[in-house]
Amino acid sequence: MSDEDGATDDGMESSDAETFEAVTRQVLERVTPAGTERARLEAVADELSARAEQAATQRCPDADVMQVGSSARDTWISGDRDIDVFVRFPPSIDRDRLETYGLEVGHAVLPAGHEEYAEHPYVKGTHDGFDVDLVPCYRLADATDIRSAVDRTPFHNRYLEARLDDDLVDGVRLAKQFLKGIGVYGSDLRTEGFSGYLTELLVVTYGGFESLLEAAADWQPPVELDPEDHGQATFDDPLIFIDPTDPERNVAAVCSAENVARLQHYARRLLEDPHLEYFEPDDPAPLTPAELEAHLERRSTTTIALRFDAPDIVDDQLYPQLQKSLGGIVNGLESRGFEVFRVDAFARESAIIFLELSVSRLPAVVRHQGPPVHVRTHAEGFYRAYADDDGVDGPFLDGDRYVVERPREFTTASEFLESEAIFEVGLGSHIETALEDGYEVQHGREVRELLEEFGSPLRRYFEPKP
Ligand code: UTP
Ligand code: MN
Repeated sequence: MSDEDGATDDGMESSDAETFEAVTRQVLERVTPAGTERARLEAVADELSARAEQAATQRCPDADVMQVGSSARDTWISGDRDIDVFVRFPPSIDRDRLETYGLEVGHAVLPAGHEEYAEHPYVKGTHDGFDVDLVPCYRLADATDIRSAVDRTPFHNRYLEARLDDDLVDGVRLAKQFLKGIGVYGSDLRTEGFSGYLTELLVVTYGGFESLLEAAADWQPPVELDPEDHGQATFDDPLIFIDPTDPERNVAAVCSAENVARLQHYARRLLEDPHLEYFEPDDPAPLTPAELEAHLERRSTTTIALRFDAPDIVDDQLYPQLQKSLGGIVNGLESRGFEVFRVDAFARESAIIFLELSVSRLPAVVRHQGPPVHVRTHAEGFYRAYADDDGVDGPFLDGDRYVVERPREFTTASEFLESEAIFEVGLGSHIETALEDGYEVQHGREVRELLEEFGSPLRRYFEPKP
């Protein structure tokens, strides 16, 4: 990467820094909204706010309206079309009334909108090409009085607005784009990454994007950040950022250990070898049938896919349930002697649990160890239970213990996966229902059939990277 503006071409020693600057300058050019784009968003947000205010004060004279989120703080990324408008009601009105008024205002402002449910219902819709959330909340004096999670949002806004300056805003945009590029932006339960608010807090706290990277490159999790010195609550998370506006909350609670590690890895990469690619989310080309064959051949693992119709639930339910089911199935296999080499789960129209095992078949017998002979009561019980059983080899002694070798229930993983026993492993509830409606088990080269729907996640699977 060459520094194109030529302002610094006299100093060789600082070429790394120049390169980092050149890269981030190019990214900033792309992610900073142009004046016209910004003016357009502001005009739409102002119009929506005015209409929301009118609809709200008609119902409750004491209500007011606040723009929040990145569009209010000018920390949004060019191309994003997301406006968050909060309608604040005084705490004197009860929750039912807040919900009723909130929805009425939402529908008045967004006639084609639909209701969604977070901790309470709100209206989501589009207006002039923007995705708009119109959320009712309480207007409170102190964030610790909150009645629901959305009541914190105006406090977040106030906290950040007081601290962001133009340089930090640039840092936030760079950080958001970088986190998107490496696939960890978002606090939804599929991503388990960094929310917009957390990203802004990190950039503000470390004083910029580059200093955030330098710090993250050296993190020793658990990392605890508590800029307002609240210091009371304890959290069992790899990254702990005590919410400046609420000491009881870890802003990074959903961020997985893997995504903290991922940020650390790519922070080091970007500092060492600055490159635009780290800011570009990759969308791998689908794996071709020939490539899949080559991977299967080379790895010689036992490949099995469990395929079923993805249950019709939101991603925030689906992905945790897939993870839970995957864990259950791995336990079910391992407790039956099948060493699981690697697993993953993917979902589109159908969902698959994709498994690679170390061996395809286990012996027809399994060892079952009894107690030491000197533990008399137990040992006699064990001996008596098997002494006349023609179906087992033994009992015999291995050292001081009784042992029998009995027929193994499942000699291949597929037999287990195709049996009723799969329903006993602790599946997510909607996954269990989906499997009850039917599923396929595909083996070895049959997984070719997955390429049409899952070609791109399969490339990621077979060409793994941090
Ligand atoms: P957004 O998810 O729209 O985030 O939530 P954002 O900060 O605007 O970031 P981008 O640029 O759109 O990705 C809007 C606000 O709602 C609060 C935060 O204060 C956030 O700024 N919020 C959102 C939370 O407190 N928790 C959440 O899980 C989500
Ligand atoms: Mn937003």
